Amino acid sequence: MVKKIVNYTGIICYCNNCPGNRDAENGTCPLAFGGQCFSAIEQVYFKEDNSYENVRTFGCFSASDQALLQCRGDLVPSYNLRSIQCCNFTDLCNQNLLPQLKIRNIIPPPNIFMQSNIHLLTLLLSFIFGFIIIFAYIAFAYKRCKRHSGSRMYFTEPFSIKLHKSQHVLQDLVTSSGSGAGKPLLIQTTIGRQFKRINCLGQGRFTEIYVGEWNASKIVEKIFSSAEEGRWFREKDIYETVSLRHENVLGYISSDILPNGMRAIYTDYHEFGSLCDYLDKTNLCRSEFLILVRTAVTAVAHLHTEIFATLKHPAVAHRDITSKNFFINDNKQCVISNFEISIKHTSMDDVMNTEPDITLGTPRYMAPEIVTGTINVRSFAAFKMADIYSLGLVLYEICQRCVTIENNSFVVDEHTLPFFDVLPKNPLIDDMRKLFGTKNPREDLLMIPSRWKNNDFVLKSFTSIMQECFYVNPKARPNVLRLKKSIIALENQDAL
Ligand SMILES: Nc1ncnc2c1ncn2[C@@H]1O[C@H](COP(=O)(O)OP(=O)(O)O)[C@@H](O)[C@H]1O
Ligand SMILES: [Mg+2]
Repeated sequence: MVKKIVNYTGIICYCNNCPGNRDAENGTCPLAFGGQCFSAIEQVYFKEDNSYENVRTFGCFSASDQALLQCRGDLVPSYNLRSIQCCNFTDLCNQNLLPQLKIRNIIPPPNIFMQSNIHLLTLLLSFIFGFIIIFAYIAFAYKRCKRHSGSRMYFTEPFSIKLHKSQHVLQDLVTSSGSGAGKPLLIQTTIGRQFKRINCLGQGRFTEIYVGEWNASKIVEKIFSSAEEGRWFREKDIYETVSLRHENVLGYISSDILPNGMRAIYTDYHEFGSLCDYLDKTNLCRSEFLILVRTAVTAVAHLHTEIFATLKHPAVAHRDITSKNFFINDNKQCVISNFEISIKHTSMDDVMNTEPDITLGTPRYMAPEIVTGTINVRSFAAFKMADIYSLGLVLYEICQRCVTIENNSFVVDEHTLPFFDVLPKNPLIDDMRKLFGTKNPREDLLMIPSRWKNNDFVLKSFTSIMQECFYVNPKARPNVLRLKKSIIALENQDAL
């Protein structure tokens, strides 16, 4: 057996729990070469009464105790909080060392109960977290669905009236997507890139019109130069007005900004073209005539009427009613279009969405109060009355093409634009000003031919209502609902 020889430095350390196998006397222990005097504090857990207590110990480490390692013991994580300081330079040097507990060493005491429940807790937390994610996803999907319910109402309503062409197009798209999302699909796939132009239908004043193919349907692309962005925006804004959709309003599909910066609006295509072109080449029997006048008036009535419901539809004054701005659909009905200068109004706050510029519009069809600039531009009702005047002119054009029987033969007038005989081809507001300066539209200009008054009871009754639209005093003009009711009454009589 090898005897261990220990050499002492002659320094003594303070000890309170002195090891019996060392030369400990009177609360001191001798410091061996390579050893350390230490002062330690430890938070000890007492299981019996579930409490913690701070316990201080003093003593000496020999070299064989691996003194240096022990002195750095507080750097090692342990279940109990502990801290230690060492010294070896003078007698009882450790007596004045009072290390403090360091929080960083906290490791909870072994708790069997906690350990066994930690898995359960993790499981529970994952369940709760998973549930929150699913709930948030459902809430998001519901919100998105609700946001688009306005535009999708037409596709889901089982008893809705006959679908527009554009509704068929949209419905195809929506039902084929399988995603359940309507409008977003239109936005995701840029219609401008998919549209294949077939033919140029013509040029409007600020636009180019193309018919083309998109999603296996023929639709119309109306292009605005980027300088006319305002007109594009206004027209798109009106089309996107809640509840504007109506069988006598041109079916809107979407709008887009093309790669070259041009703005585009996509609508239904109507092969018969504008009402103006249609009247140029079509004679109308009485029932066809009545359908055209009723649907033209119904279109304007839909615009002029504010609807108070869950989906609020503001009233719209068109401000550019002409026979070129109605199209003829497959059912030989009028559909209204061209909302580039239209204004919206809600009675609740009595505001119009824009300050109307009365120099815009088609001079030939402008009401006298617009031509003279006497219209009250702050009154939405005034713009509706101006619309009635222009609508009256369109009805006048339709009357020309209603065939009557005279002396056993069919008689019909040629289609002409209002005041064609007293105005240049493309009149300006100044031309209108000159015309109305000397002549009253109702008394002097828009004469009712004897054919309309003498031979046909329907045409005769209709023309007397229509003539009221031409009063110079806007308040003397009928409102659109009165016009609509009178025409429906005439249709009912005609059917007897
Ligand atoms: N949806 C359509 N279906 C058939 N023809 C159309 C359609 N849109 C425009 N057109 C043709 O193009 C012409 C000009 O279109 P329009 O929308 O009135 O342009 P602008 O507003 O610039 O006058 C119309 O008169 C008509 O002949
Ligand atoms: Mg037009």
